[in-house]
Amino acid sequence: MHDIVRRLDEQRRLARLGGGQLRIDAQHAKGKLTARERLDILLDEGSFEEWDMFVEHRSSDFGMAEQTIPGDGVVTGHGTVNGRLVFVFSQDFTVVGGSLSEAHAEKICKVMDQAMRVGAPVIGLNDSGGARIQEGVASLAGYAEVFQRNVLASGVVPQISMIMGPCAGGAVYSPAMTDFIFMVRDTSYMFVTGPDVVKTVTHEDVTHEVLGGASTHTTRSGVADGAFDNDLEALLMLRRFVDFLPASNKEKPPVRQTPDPARRMEMSLDTLIPDNPNKPYDMKELILKVVDEGDFFEIKPEFAGNIVCGLARMEGSTVGIVANQPMVLAGCLDIDSAVKAARFVRFCDCFNIPLVTFVDVPGFLPGTSQELGGIIRHGAKLLYAFAEATVPKVTVITRKAYGGAYDVMSSKHLRGDVNYAWPTAEIAVMGPKGAVEIIFRQEAGNAGRIAERTEEYRTRFANPFVAGRRGFIDDVIMPHNTRARICRSLKMLRGKDLKNPWRKHGNLPL
Ligand code: HXC
Repeated sequence: MHDIVRRLDEQRRLARLGGGQLRIDAQHAKGKLTARERLDILLDEGSFEEWDMFVEHRSSDFGMAEQTIPGDGVVTGHGTVNGRLVFVFSQDFTVVGGSLSEAHAEKICKVMDQAMRVGAPVIGLNDSGGARIQEGVASLAGYAEVFQRNVLASGVVPQISMIMGPCAGGAVYSPAMTDFIFMVRDTSYMFVTGPDVVKTVTHEDVTHEVLGGASTHTTRSGVADGAFDNDLEALLMLRRFVDFLPASNKEKPPVRQTPDPARRMEMSLDTLIPDNPNKPYDMKELILKVVDEGDFFEIKPEFAGNIVCGLARMEGSTVGIVANQPMVLAGCLDIDSAVKAARFVRFCDCFNIPLVTFVDVPGFLPGTSQELGGIIRHGAKLLYAFAEATVPKVTVITRKAYGGAYDVMSSKHLRGDVNYAWPTAEIAVMGPKGAVEIIFRQEAGNAGRIAERTEEYRTRFANPFVAGRRGFIDDVIMPHNTRARICRSLKMLRGKDLKNPWRKHGNLPL
């Protein structure tokens, strides 16, 4: 018995030491925490229940027999974040570069399977050199087992990836199939083929950072949903993020007590919209003033800024906010914004998170780059996502709602539950100037007549009443009442029960 306990202690000590003090020091020297230090920050104190600490790899090729470290490069188990259960895996770069062996993959699969069975999120902290090269196809099989589970868990439990070191090759496809990818600036990167391969194949010189650093993926590729300055900030923000999420698709989002009254009026919103319809204003100001305590977790804040997406709370319950941003590209929908918002809307719909949509959209962005890039196909994704969503949907049109973009942005016609308009709303096929240039083309030479016609069109359509008469909007509300009206609508919608027709799955335009 004593012998067993002594051996147990020794095994635990070895596992906790990972790749040894030298490698831990090297990890720290790069500004990175170790796998266990990260879990200590992410999880509530004392809540971590570790699994599979004694798992070892089974390879003996290329000197691997001498390199067995209990745990095999990944720390797995479950714990709580603010008292709520989560499953975790944290790759340990100090053990064979955090590379994924067959055994390492089995550990990840075990927590994923259990998370699906009990209905709790899976959080992966990625820091790995990829497939364990010494194991060959066994490690590729391990990845595929993880990929398969990522797909089966999709829409069942939230899956979040925090990239905290290298993530390269096919390994990127596990995070890619999770719901959210966050990265740590300067110390993490993601690419399918690294700079050396790129150089050989395309003769391009490119750095790790440009090819796959956090700034690339949060501003240009749109692969990542957010980036943080260091491990500590990243993990604390991850805790804040998890707080918004329901544990699974069978649960409603969590409710937090809030001191912010549901009926709070925000008089400053009455003057948010400038008199000049072509002048922008900051849609984020509206969001921050409407949601509980101004607490808004924005997704992809630096990518496709013409649409704003993120999680917030109304009367303590999580909502997904989608809003056109007049400050960027006048709030037009384009390829990137449509794809960004479509994915977010689908996430909210998977996990019973009501959607609050603020609309100020002059239409789809014109141009060859958009048309040739497939705006038809990509724009359809957002239309599909809003139309498919069965969660409560509350929409507020603040100013422009023109053309097809009006339909797309959670309109009444796409089963919007409550559709409000501010008095400044303009709901029409297009802006007055463009409309008159088309329907009165024969009067084009007569500037005075065109101005008259434009004014006529504006008076007729640049208001919420035409849509109001048909019941396409439920009410015209004063901006200062926006929070109160949304809260009341969401409360009314708590019992909403809407199902789409049975099907194996829809065919989202990809
Ligand atoms: C085995 C690995 C490894 C790997 C790193 N190591 N990656 N061992 N398999 N994939 C080991 C190193 O040999 C080294 O061991 C230790 O981890 C630390 O690595 P360093 O190179 O010293 O660290 P660093 O300089 O920070 O460089 C990190 C790195 C580099 C950029 C990730 O290690 C690297 O390029 N690794 C290989 C990456 C790769 O090609 N992976 C396969 C991708 S393909 P010692 O003992 O010397 O300290 C893939 C396919 C997945 O993953 C397919 C899914 C379908």
